[in-house]
Amino acid sequence: MEYLLKSGDLAQQRTACLVVGVHARGDLTQPAVDLDQMSAGAINKLLKRGDFQGRAGQIQFLYDLPDLACDRLLLVGLGPHKEFNLSAYRKAATAAAAALDESHATEAITTLPLLEIANVSLYTRLREAVSATEDALYRFEQCKSKAEKRQRPLRKMGLFTGRQRKTKVLENAILHGRSIAHGVTLARNLGNLPGNICTPSYLAEQAEILGRKSRSLKVQVLEEKQMQELGMGALLSVSRGSRQPAKLIVLEYRGGNPKSRPVVLVGKGLTFDAGGISIKPAASMDEMKFDMCGGASVLGAVTACVEMALPLNLVGIIPSSENLPDGEANKPGDIVTSMSGQTIEVLNTDAEGRLILCDALTYSERFNPTAIIDIATLTGACVVALGAHASGLLGNDDKLTEELLNAGRESGDRAWQLPLWEDYQEQLDSRFADMANIGNRGAGTITAACFLSRFTKKMKWAHLDIAGTAWKTGSEKGATGRPVPLLVQFLLNRCGLSG
Ligand code: BES
Ligand code: MN
Ligand code: ZN
Repeated sequence: MEYLLKSGDLAQQRTACLVVGVHARGDLTQPAVDLDQMSAGAINKLLKRGDFQGRAGQIQFLYDLPDLACDRLLLVGLGPHKEFNLSAYRKAATAAAAALDESHATEAITTLPLLEIANVSLYTRLREAVSATEDALYRFEQCKSKAEKRQRPLRKMGLFTGRQRKTKVLENAILHGRSIAHGVTLARNLGNLPGNICTPSYLAEQAEILGRKSRSLKVQVLEEKQMQELGMGALLSVSRGSRQPAKLIVLEYRGGNPKSRPVVLVGKGLTFDAGGISIKPAASMDEMKFDMCGGASVLGAVTACVEMALPLNLVGIIPSSENLPDGEANKPGDIVTSMSGQTIEVLNTDAEGRLILCDALTYSERFNPTAIIDIATLTGACVVALGAHASGLLGNDDKLTEELLNAGRESGDRAWQLPLWEDYQEQLDSRFADMANIGNRGAGTITAACFLSRFTKKMKWAHLDIAGTAWKTGSEKGATGRPVPLLVQFLLNRCGLSG
C-alpha cells in the first residue's frame, strides 16, 4: 500500500473515493458539512432516508454527487460525538479500509485525520490511520493451497490534512505508521504459523533474513552447544524434551551513538507449549503455537526500528524452544542450574517460559542495558486477571513502568500494572533448591514475575505478560501483533520522535 499526504481544497480532490466521518444520530463532522453543502445537500438527503445513522463502524457509499471531483463518497460512522476518542477513530479507519478493499475503488482519500481528538496530535491521527488501514487489509493465507483472489484491492490511500501543508513531522507520521504496521504484520505472520513450520530453527532463520536485509542489524544465533558452555541449564532443560534444537537469537540494531547503552527486549519464543510432562488438557491446545508471540513481537519491534532508522541502540534476544513430553523431558521435582548459578526446582514442567527466559535475562547483562523489557505469553492467570484488553506489566523501576504505561495509552496498545511486592517472593520457596519454578496458591502472574525478578536485579527491568493480548480466540482466532505498537511507541518516545 502507498500512503500520501494530501492538502488543499476538499471539493477539488480527484479520487475514486473520498472518506468522510459522521457521528451518531447523523451529527455531521466539519468535512461532511462542507461536502454536503458543495453537493446540494446529498449527505443530509441520505440521512433523512434513515439507512445510515453514524453508528460506530457503519459504512455507506454514495454515488453521483453533483459538483464534487470524486467518483464516490464513503460515509463512515464514528459513534457518539462525546465519546469520540483514538479507539473510535481507529475503528472508523479500519471499517473504511475494509469497505474500500471490497469496493471497486483501488485508491481513496480519507478526511478522517482532520477530526480533532482531545490530546491526540495530527501526527498520531495520521500514523494511526495508516496502521489501522494496514490492520484491516491483513490476511493470513500462507498455509492455504489457494489464496483468495481479490478483484480490485485497495492500493493507494491519500490522507487529507486540509490547509495544513507537509512537514517533517507529518511525513514521519506516515513512515512510522507504515513501519509499526510492518512490525505488527511480521509478528502476526510468525504467530499464526503452526508449530510444525514455525520451529526454533525457523524463527532463527527469519531473524537471519532480517539481518541480511539491513546493514545496521547484526544477527547471531547461539546453538545448544554454546548455551551449554554458557551454563544455560534452565533453558536447555526445556529443549531436552524436544527433537527441535533450542536457539538463542540475538539481534543487535545500532542506530544510536556507539557508546550509548542499548534498550534490550527479550521475547519468549516457545514455538509450541504442550506443557511437557505436566501436560496440558487437549481443549484449545492448538493455541499454544502462539506461545512464541513475545519473541515475534521482538522481531516486529526490531524491524520497525530498522525501517524508521531510529537513533538508538536496541538489542533483541529470543530464547526459542518447544515444550513437549518425552523420556528426556523435565520431570516434576527435577532441579536445574541456571546460568546465574541459582538452582531451580521444576515443580511444574508447564511453567517453562520462565525457565527459558531466566537464562536469556542473565545473558542480557553483557549488553549493559539502559533498560530491559521482557515480553512473554507467560501465565493463564494474566488472562483471568485482565482478559484480552491489557497486557500485564510488572517491574523493578517506577520510571520505566510509567514510560511503558504511557506508551500503551498513546498507542492504544495498553498495559496495566500489577504489584511486585516482596511479600509475594516467599511463594517461590523450595525445600530442595534456591527456588521453585511455580508459586503456591494465587497471584500466578505476579509470582511468575517474582521468579524473573531474581534474574534482573542488576538492571532496570520490566515484564509484559501478553498471554491475553497476543492472540484472539474464537471465530477471530489469530495473532494480534501486540505489543509491537506499545514497544515501538516506547522507543519513539525515548528518541523524542513521536509528534
Ligand atoms: N504459555 C503458558 C501460559 C498461557 C496459558 C498463555 C494459557 C495463554 C493461555 C505458560 O507456559 C504456562 O503454561 N503457564 C502455566 C503456569 C503454571 C503452571 C504455574 C499456566 O499459566 O497455567
Ligand atoms: Mn507452559
Ligand atoms: Zn508457555
